Amino acid sequence: MNATRTRPKRLVHKAAPQLKVLYVCTEVYPWLKTGGLADVSAALPPALRLAGLDVRVLVPAFPALAQAASVCGAPIALPPGTADGPGPRADTAGTAAPWLQPANWHNLTTADASTCTPQVYLLHAPGLLDQPGNPYTDASGQPWPDSARRFAWLGWAAARLGTGLDATWQPDVVHGHDWHTGLSAAYLHALAERGQRVPATVFTIHNLAYQGIFGPEVMAPMGLPASQFGLRGLEFHGNVSFMKAGLQYSQALTTVSPTYASEITQPEQGHGLDGLLRERQAQLHGILNGVDGAVWDPQADALAPHAYSASNLAGKAVAKAALQIDMGLQADPAALLFVVVSRLTDQKGLHLLPQVVDELVQRGGQLAVLGEGDATIEQALRACAQRHPGRVALHKGYSEALAHRMVAGGDVIMVPSRFEPCGLTQLYGLRYGTLPLVRAVGGLADTVTDCSLENLADGSASGFVFHRLDADDLARAVRRAFALHARPADWQAVQRHAMGLRFDWARAAQAYAGLYAQLAQDVL
Ligand code: ADP
Ligand code: GLC
Repeated sequence: MNATRTRPKRLVHKAAPQLKVLYVCTEVYPWLKTGGLADVSAALPPALRLAGLDVRVLVPAFPALAQAASVCGAPIALPPGTADGPGPRADTAGTAAPWLQPANWHNLTTADASTCTPQVYLLHAPGLLDQPGNPYTDASGQPWPDSARRFAWLGWAAARLGTGLDATWQPDVVHGHDWHTGLSAAYLHALAERGQRVPATVFTIHNLAYQGIFGPEVMAPMGLPASQFGLRGLEFHGNVSFMKAGLQYSQALTTVSPTYASEITQPEQGHGLDGLLRERQAQLHGILNGVDGAVWDPQADALAPHAYSASNLAGKAVAKAALQIDMGLQADPAALLFVVVSRLTDQKGLHLLPQVVDELVQRGGQLAVLGEGDATIEQALRACAQRHPGRVALHKGYSEALAHRMVAGGDVIMVPSRFEPCGLTQLYGLRYGTLPLVRAVGGLADTVTDCSLENLADGSASGFVFHRLDADDLARAVRRAFALHARPADWQAVQRHAMGLRFDWARAAQAYAGLYAQLAQDVL
């Protein structure tokens, strides 16, 4: 560089202060995951930091999350609500008074960790938040009986951090995710009504189907003002809805795809909240999720051993052969291999699969399913596997490693959802050249383009899209997959196009950053 070069003139205006954002959630990949929310909560906060925001994450100190973080700073006591103010009463706490532990995730770079800046606040509440396992349900799938108390304390912790509990760091924005964090906005609203200065609030709906509904008896012990128990508050058909609290009291609402943002304003997908969402449509934004390239990359996937790229797909054929062995399927390179990696719930439309499986096999295809959940769906899929040994296989359970090998080794990934706020597996499929076969709902509609003749002709095709939630329409999409597979050059062209598509977190982070900036300005 030329040392004698004249210095550029200093810009005279001051740099905008770095916005501080408290990101509140209940699961984070790889430590605690029940679904896509964990993937989002692992990827979005770092992407926001890269976008220049000062982001800290608040999570319950569930054992899996507490073990993943190192202590960084002195604990901060979390005072309960007072008799005449908002906040959970002391006697709802568990076996000891809750506190917040500033911490760092273990996997942060040394440079980040050495600054000892807490990236995480762990909410400790012994006897309440320290049970291992699924954060929401017991082993039989029933919600934990103390769920209202658990997540009221989480909301309260967020509200108190938002109003200066940590003297060294006070957020400009509190951003909650799903119903478990909905009360943060309700408590902040109550604090604002008592004259406190509160931060801006953003609430992201990852899935409107799960709402956190409890009897009205939780109002008083949770220190929720009686005035909030009404149509314009968190009351929902005589009960308390944590989801509705988030929707009603947050300044901005987001959901994880543009199409879902519009679908939830209609009765069919509104889960009873479409009226409220219609009223709040001007504040409701659809920001599409992304793919974490550090975790899902066919060229460097720690969990899928056979690397490949769009320009060299040889490794994909090896991955497919390995997957066929893994799943007990016939070693048949020519068989079109359909895979499913999914929670087995009503949401995912998998009840349709048994109705198309005979045709799929008769056309020479194979089907491999990885999933767990609803016993009826599981039994129906198991019956298919028994009817077609070596052609259809079900692996019941949860396996991150197998999920990666399925996405890498499959030809087609099926996501025939009834509804889908965003969906991540179709995005992973695109990245891996495993063409998604999806129903045109929510984020699936926003991310996959059907292999119709015109889309093939203009190079935009990336998968197979069907519309009606019925087996006939699904079967037609399955047939389109076979038809394209019979034209290898076209198949590969679509694969390459799909693999080149980018659904990056950087793009989503920019959208959230823009929203935060706008809200923070309104608060000032
Ligand atoms: P949802 O959050 O509704 O379950 P998403 O598609 O957003 O749907 O995210 C699902 C996430 O969970 C993906 O990372 C997917 O790979 C993973 N997943 C789902 N079922 C399983 C399973 N049985 N084993 C391993 N990973 C799974
Ligand atoms: C929910 C939705 C899913 C979405 C995920 C992450 O679990 O069901 O569609 O991708 O959240 O936002």
